[in-house]
Amino acid sequence: MAADTRAKAVTLDLRRRLLSSSCRLFFPEDPVKIIRGQGQYLYDEQGREYLDCINNVAHVGHCHPTVVQAAHEQNLVLNTNSRYLHDNIVDYAQRLSETLPEQLSVFYFLNSGSEANDLALRLARQYTGHQDVVVLDHAYHGHLSSLIDISPYKFRNLGGQKEWVHVAPLPDTYRGPYREDHPNPAEAYANEVKHVISSAQEKGRKIAAFFAESLPSVSGQIIPPAGYFSQVAEHIRRAGGLFVADEIQVGFGRIGKHFWAFQLEGEDFVPDIVTMGKSIGNGHPVACMATTQAVSRAFEATGVEYFNTFGGNPVSCAVGLAVLDVLKTEQLQAHATNVGSFLLEHLSQQKAKHPIIGDVRLKENYILLSTDGPGRNILKFKPPMCFSVDNAQHVVAKLDDILTDMEEKVRSCETLRIKHPPGKPDLAPPPPADPQHFNLYLLD
Ligand SMILES: Cc1ncc(COP(=O)(O)O)c(C=O)c1O
Repeated sequence: MAADTRAKAVTLDLRRRLLSSSCRLFFPEDPVKIIRGQGQYLYDEQGREYLDCINNVAHVGHCHPTVVQAAHEQNLVLNTNSRYLHDNIVDYAQRLSETLPEQLSVFYFLNSGSEANDLALRLARQYTGHQDVVVLDHAYHGHLSSLIDISPYKFRNLGGQKEWVHVAPLPDTYRGPYREDHPNPAEAYANEVKHVISSAQEKGRKIAAFFAESLPSVSGQIIPPAGYFSQVAEHIRRAGGLFVADEIQVGFGRIGKHFWAFQLEGEDFVPDIVTMGKSIGNGHPVACMATTQAVSRAFEATGVEYFNTFGGNPVSCAVGLAVLDVLKTEQLQAHATNVGSFLLEHLSQQKAKHPIIGDVRLKENYILLSTDGPGRNILKFKPPMCFSVDNAQHVVAKLDDILTDMEEKVRSCETLRIKHPPGKPDLAPPPPADPQHFNLYLLD
């Protein structure tokens, strides 16, 4: 293929000329040109192999043969919209329903997570007759105008919080106002939501929905205290609103113990709407919104057709079904539990060994890893589910090397610290010429 033989610099130049600079590249200082993927590995134009730790979309592995084959076979026969009867769409809805509480029994198919969240917002507004939304701070729910409005992660940079949007603090027991030593952080954070609702109501506002990722990931992979979401759901429902669980990043067996992250709250906890995307198509644009009969009926009662040209087409559904098959046959959920426990144990040892954790990137070691969170100081692992114990061992060893190296650099910064104004040594800005120093100031 001609495109694959193009020199990296030429591709970069073409991209700079033809694409908007708002479409950012990973590692902008030295972007990687990836031309092939397999399992948990990506390969650049020189054939160099990278371990992919930032891909929760290639859920069951890049170019998984079963998924590729399913798309190919269906493409050979038919691809069209969902206005014709076809088995794939009903089979896929049926299979998804088996993973969810029985109340979530109506499915809408779409092409992206953003579309799923936007539709969730429409349904919530239709069902409740209310307009307003409560969201968690630093959240991101998609790139459509409606979703930028409910994504503090984005709208804070755009300088505008809409009057119908209300922001509650992140239930972060590590850095937030109520920490692990608080007697009941779940209740304390849920009361914050209650307070946000009351303040909105005092201004005459009415709540349509609470949107949250079941494990807020864009905000820095927060694990809310147990019981938080159940209490929030009570407050929201009392205000007449719906609970929307955004599982676009964190769902689909990724957390190991459960198929959906909201299930961490216990069997009795059932959101009113669940949105899914990213991983469910293993790279093919597939998304879904599941809700209850009651919520769906209110939407249907408008008489306005829900039509989505590509959503739920036979190829997308064949892909979705194949991803579910692979998850099952390769027992990837149990595998995620094993590898996750291994990583947790070994990273905990690193925590004990290294007093610093910061903005670490491993690209130079052929490991693709990213950071997230308000301070961009959370090291986020989201590899394909076939990521192995050996891969985990390799990452931990590299991380150990990097942290050791960083600690040495911190020690060599001591002389610079002494020069900072008395009384405010840690607030002084880092020397601008050396970006390494800035990274060190991201430490918490
Ligand atoms: C939590 C969450 N919700 C929604 C979206 C939007 O999904 P998409 O990019 O498929 O539109 C994203 C994308 O990053 C996301 O992380």
